[in-house]
Amino acid sequence: MNEIASALAGKFIVFDGPDGSGKSTQMRRFMHWCREGGVVVKEVREPGGTSIGEQIRQVLLDTDNECMTIQCEMLLYMASRAQLVEQEIVPSLKRGELVVADRFVSATLAYQGAAGGLPKEWIQQVAEVAVSGNWPDLTLILDVDDVTAAGRLNPLLDRMELKGKNFHFKVREGFLDQVRAMPERYCVIDSTQREDTVELAVQNAIRERFC
Ligand code: TMP
Repeated sequence: MNEIASALAGKFIVFDGPDGSGKSTQMRRFMHWCREGGVVVKEVREPGGTSIGEQIRQVLLDTDNECMTIQCEMLLYMASRAQLVEQEIVPSLKRGELVVADRFVSATLAYQGAAGGLPKEWIQQVAEVAVSGNWPDLTLILDVDDVTAAGRLNPLLDRMELKGKNFHFKVREGFLDQVRAMPERYCVIDSTQREDTVELAVQNAIRERFC
C-alpha cells in the first residue's frame, strides 16, 4: 500500500456538482487511481445504490411524475440515502474501505434547497435522520458554467435535467454557497478544463487534505 492508500482507508468522499459537470468521469478516474495505489474502493451512487434506492430513483427521474411536490422529492432522495447509508456505506467504512459516492446531501441542499426553495434547515434536519452521523470526510464540487454543462448532457433529459436554465443556475450557486460556508468539508474543482487537468486537480486536492 502506498501513502495515499493508507490515508484513504475508511474515508468517505463525495463527488457532486451540477448536471453536466463531468463528475461521473472524474469519479471513475479517481477510483482507478486509488485502486492502482492499493485502496479498496466502494462506489455508490445517488439516488439509488441499493435495490430499494434504484426503485426510488425510477420514481424520482420519471418524466411522467411532473406533479411531484418539492417536499415529496426531498423526502424520496433522503429515503434512498437512508437505505444506502445503512446497507452499503457504514459496512464498507467499518471494513476500512474508501467509500466514493456519486452525490450525497450536498445535492439535496443545492437542488431541493437553493434551487427548489426548501429551507436548508429542514433539509439539514431530515439529513440528520438519513445519514445518522455518517457525514462525508470531503465533498468535491465539480464546478462548471451552464454553457459547458449543457454541451455535455445526453439529449434525452430526465425530469431533473428538464427543469430549465434558471433552476440550474441556482443549483450551481447552491453548491458554491456550501463550499463557502464549510471550506473544511468541501473543495471546489474547476471542471471546465480538460479531463486530464481536472483529474490532476482532484488528486492534488485529495493529497492536500489527507496526506
Ligand atoms: P445523476 O444525474 O447524478 O445520476 O443524478 C440524478 C439527478 O438527481 C440529478 O439531476 C440531480 C438530482 N438530485 C437531486 O435533485 N437531489 C439529490 O439529493 C440527488 C442525490 C440528486
